[in-house]
Amino acid sequence: MRTLIRGGTVLSSTGAVTADVLVDGETIAAVTAPGMLAGQNVEVDTEFDATGKYVMPGGIDAHTHMEMPFGGTFSADTFETGTRAAAWGGTTTIIDFAVQPKGSSLLSTLDNWHEKADGDCAVDYGFHMIVSDVNDATLKEMESCVAAGVSSFKMFMAYPGVFYSTDGEILRAMNKAADIGGTIAMHAENGIAIDELVARALAEGRSEPYQHGVTRPPELEGEATSRAITLAKVTGSPLYIVHLSAAQALSAVAEARDEGQNVFAETCPQYLYLSIEDLGKPDFEGAKYVASPPLREKHHQPDLWRGLRTNDLSVVSTDHCPFCFKDQKELGRGDFTKIPNGIPGVEHRIDLLHQGVVAGEISLARWVEACSTTPALMFGLYPRKGVIAPGADADIVVYDPAAEQTISAETHHMNVDYSAYEGMTVTGRCETVLSRGSVVVDRGTYHGRAGHGRFLERDLCQYLN
Ligand code: URP
Ligand code: ZN
Ligand code: ZN
Ligand code: ZN
Repeated sequence: MRTLIRGGTVLSSTGAVTADVLVDGETIAAVTAPGMLAGQNVEVDTEFDATGKYVMPGGIDAHTHMEMPFGGTFSADTFETGTRAAAWGGTTTIIDFAVQPKGSSLLSTLDNWHEKADGDCAVDYGFHMIVSDVNDATLKEMESCVAAGVSSFKMFMAYPGVFYSTDGEILRAMNKAADIGGTIAMHAENGIAIDELVARALAEGRSEPYQHGVTRPPELEGEATSRAITLAKVTGSPLYIVHLSAAQALSAVAEARDEGQNVFAETCPQYLYLSIEDLGKPDFEGAKYVASPPLREKHHQPDLWRGLRTNDLSVVSTDHCPFCFKDQKELGRGDFTKIPNGIPGVEHRIDLLHQGVVAGEISLARWVEACSTTPALMFGLYPRKGVIAPGADADIVVYDPAAEQTISAETHHMNVDYSAYEGMTVTGRCETVLSRGSVVVDRGTYHGRAGHGRFLERDLCQYLN
């Protein structure tokens, strides 16, 4: 099965070139000057005319939570519905977080996540491991995780009593990661201090969703980020700060990077476009925007865009963690601490970040880099993923930069009853999406199949200094 994508502007992290892309089976066979293959008797089964369109490597969303247990419920997208929605938005790889429950092993956790995902995904997928129970057995099992293609481990400085790890536990896990070449991904908020602010708010009768933002101030993200960086420095472990939202945290990351430490960070579209004002929407609507770290005051946003330009923020992921407004967010009416934390977004990451290109905040190359090439390198998938080049998997998006669309829960494909971006009109849209050579989406029609997606055994981080 051969597919030719003709005459598009082929994007990479270094720029753009007009070219034809030939796909043979599951991989890219050639990237040539336009028309070059015409005289060479190459038979193709399908052709796409990409004139005036971008041809870019499929998106890699390195931070999703499908079917994740949280606060007595589960995030609303299954691997099937979540990867289908991802494909609609041009994301052809997700890396989801397997969650170790306290008292259980990492390998049984991994089995559990395979059970959820295997045979259900429309696009390729990998796993990170959330380590919530640090002990000798867990530390030893980190080696087996790396051998099984799970080379990154998320830890929490937030959520005491749930996922939280002490500094000592973090130090131990980082030592192990440094030994075996793993990466520590960190949820950096000072959960101990936050719990005090939360207790005071509730005692004073401040229980509405807005208080979620008030009780998790940006300073406590900055402090935790600095502490994580220090622990990583002492141990020599690579560190990847997840869902960075605050200017204070960005400063800490930038300083460490300027000194050459292997510290990296991602931000998410919600921190670039939404704000704490959304948490204050009346009639409990603010609950739709409860995620941790919380949405910040708008003045953080220019800093985040600058971070994306300077590569102090290297990746944009979604932290896709959907909970329905009607029956799940509802659990926290009258007590904001019981609102399941998370915002849906896997479908719109590429479109939302494209608005940064339209607005002149970032270049086309940075868009592709932050959405695809760097996550591939960061999480050991390059050059199989993250680039349009001969030999790479044919995960390809034909993107129409001139199309307009309005984001709405009525038209999105995520299994959740609201959109955090309801009514927002964006410029650009995925026209055709290929996953390993198979057409998954084409001009508004879905051709994908649950079970097409394969588990990706990932290598170690390829992005180290
Ligand atoms: O609120 C969030 N971010 N929910 C998902 C879990 C996490 O901390 O990433
Ligand atoms: Zn987190
Ligand atoms: Zn810098
Ligand atoms: Zn998350």
